[in-house]
Amino acid sequence: MNRERPIGIFDSGIGGLTVVRAIQAALPAERIIYFGDTARVPYGPKSQVTIRKYASDDISILMRYQPKIIIVACNTVSALALDVVEHACGNIPVIGVLKAGAKLAVQATKNRRIGVIGTQATVSSNAYACAINSLNPEIEVVSQACPLFVPLAEEGFVDHPATKLIAREYLSEFSNAGIDTLVLGCTHYPILRRVIEETIGQGIRIIDSAEAVALRTKELMTESGELNPFRKSFAPHLLVSDLPQKFSRLYQLFMNSELPDVELVEV
Ligand code: DGL
Repeated sequence: MNRERPIGIFDSGIGGLTVVRAIQAALPAERIIYFGDTARVPYGPKSQVTIRKYASDDISILMRYQPKIIIVACNTVSALALDVVEHACGNIPVIGVLKAGAKLAVQATKNRRIGVIGTQATVSSNAYACAINSLNPEIEVVSQACPLFVPLAEEGFVDHPATKLIAREYLSEFSNAGIDTLVLGCTHYPILRRVIEETIGQGIRIIDSAEAVALRTKELMTESGELNPFRKSFAPHLLVSDLPQKFSRLYQLFMNSELPDVELVEV
């Protein structure tokens, strides 16, 4: 039965769990299958060719579970390889975090100056500026790559002095930029949200695309009549390509919930 099939979600590592959390809150009756490519994280410093190959491998793992929808919980893949995922999915709908984040930021800004932080690949692709300007060409986008945020999140350094120091270094780029909105353009960054918020200071609205993605998923599945009608709540089925024990530890830290099994898969 189509409606009981899982929602497939993937990222390079732990970051996509921020999207899993939002999906669970918005759609508690849905089964979730999550793949974190922990063997090859980070994706952000890699070339487009490599990121596209990884995206193709990731999606072929999730397709084994016959998902009814795919959520690309990775901005880097959304920016550089969304077409690879869409092609592999055929008729299965695909939602990428990037467009959802861009839309939310356009709705939030009052002074039409938006900051975007993301991986090196996402920032170099200019995909956020394009998505934002396709919605409103008058908006000015200021971007900054923050590559060290990904390993800090993967280490669970949510409140560590090193994270604070690095955040000060990266976010100083925005001190004279006059932005009123900052997009967390990498799904790892909401894990460090407290430090980012403290460093950037008050009066700047932080955009995390996870909630927007969850709303869009709910909308799409309601329209197509594919919501799971059986009101049970399921622990997500977690797959990783390396170090399942480490992933379990981080899962507990970020999700604050009982630990489901983490399965090791080969990429
Ligand atoms: N969390 C991912 C993103 O949203 C990828 C981070 C990385 O692997 O560099 O871009």
